[in-house]
Amino acid sequence: MANKVAVYRKEHFNAAHRLANPTWTDAENARVFGKCALPHYHGHNYELIVKVSGFPDPATGYVIDMKILSDLIQQEIVERFDHRNLNLDTLEFATLNPTAENIAIVIFDLLRPHLDNKLDLQIRLYETPRNFVEYPA
Ligand code: NI
Repeated sequence: MANKVAVYRKEHFNAAHRLANPTWTDAENARVFGKCALPHYHGHNYELIVKVSGFPDPATGYVIDMKILSDLIQQEIVERFDHRNLNLDTLEFATLNPTAENIAIVIFDLLRPHLDNKLDLQIRLYETPRNFVEYPA
């Protein structure tokens, strides 16, 4: 019996956002979110690492064909978010605060329906080289 293996695909997108809670005052948002709440938005170079785990297929030796995974991330994530203002240009963050945490959850939910149920999925998203999140935790 083959052992479980994790494969990873790294992709990249640039996007702008602003962090704020719309039910708070500007002063409250500034206190909690600091520069991330500045009204005219700011950008990040997001590094996305998609982890897919499963047992290699006996016929191909693949957990998943990396071309298929790469195309899927391009279509579902990069084309949707790259060079967008997440707050203004995307339905996903029209009312959801686009923190790295929430972006990772949204990316998971966009990819999960396209993957075989036998495969596990985890998202790692770098908002800066030093700040990154993983979902599921
Ligand atoms: Ni930011």
